[in-house]
Amino acid sequence: MATETGAPVLSARHVVRHFGGLYAVNDVSFDVRKGEILGLIGPNGAGKTTMFDLLAGSLPPSGGDIVLGGASVAGESAHRRIGRGLGRTFQIPRPLANLSLLENVMLARQGQTGESLLANFLHPFRVVAEEKAAEEKAGELLELVSLSRLAHEPARVLSGGQRKLLELARVMMADPAIILLDEPAAGVNATLLEVIMDRIREINALGVTFLLIEHNIDMVTRLCHRVLVMASGQLICEGTATEVARDPRVIEAYLGGAA
Ligand SMILES: Nc1ncnc2c1ncn2[C@@H]1O[C@H](COP(=O)(O)OP(=O)(O)OP(=O)(O)O)[C@@H](O)[C@H]1O
Ligand SMILES: [Mg+2]
Repeated sequence: MATETGAPVLSARHVVRHFGGLYAVNDVSFDVRKGEILGLIGPNGAGKTTMFDLLAGSLPPSGGDIVLGGASVAGESAHRRIGRGLGRTFQIPRPLANLSLLENVMLARQGQTGESLLANFLHPFRVVAEEKAAEEKAGELLELVSLSRLAHEPARVLSGGQRKLLELARVMMADPAIILLDEPAAGVNATLLEVIMDRIREINALGVTFLLIEHNIDMVTRLCHRVLVMASGQLICEGTATEVARDPRVIEAYLGGAA
């Protein structure tokens, strides 16, 4: 279980993002503490995915700052942030359908020597050794997410739930310190959901911090040490899953959204 005192690994500081006149994220500040599994919930259109895009660097903020591992990264590309230990999965995973699971995972590694033509020429043995090491690591990650049986199958054979597990293995390939998961339970059957939750717990026990967006409240309650609630672009509440579920502001936000 994460401690309340974990230092922040990722912080949003007065983050704003507007699309024309629509403030999708409006002055949001929070810390993700080292070692915790933090939930981010809220009604449709609350600004959760936009917040992820801002944290991961796929969208520039209109204002405010993002601090990752103690450094301001608001002006850095998504790629640079991956290099700093931030991993992110997408709401709709799009693996390369005709490549094997193993190849899909291997492609997610960072900064291999073989990426450079010159290095291929100067250090062919190092490149071969790195390839072998990467293949081994990808194989171990597929085992971690219970997909090793399908390692050599093309990714197109996977179910929606299995694609989410493949995403988790892909993201782990870059050795992230923190992983942002966008709706890991959406479209996943109950059995696979248990597998996904077990894997998140195991990876968390290895020291990886999580921030996850999820509409499945049962999953949030069972998995998250702490929960943030967004509505209409703002952070309206934070606490344990039980605390936020009975907060009048949260109830109002969900009822308002349903009306
Ligand atoms: N690229 C964009 N251009 C214009 N408006 C956008 C854009 N992206 C998001 N929005 C708007 O910003 C608001 C927040 O959207 P966002 O996708 O962040 O919500 P969400 O909390 O992730 O919702 P859901 O639970 O349905 O996924 C919505 O009103 C949405 O229509
Ligand atoms: Mg969303």
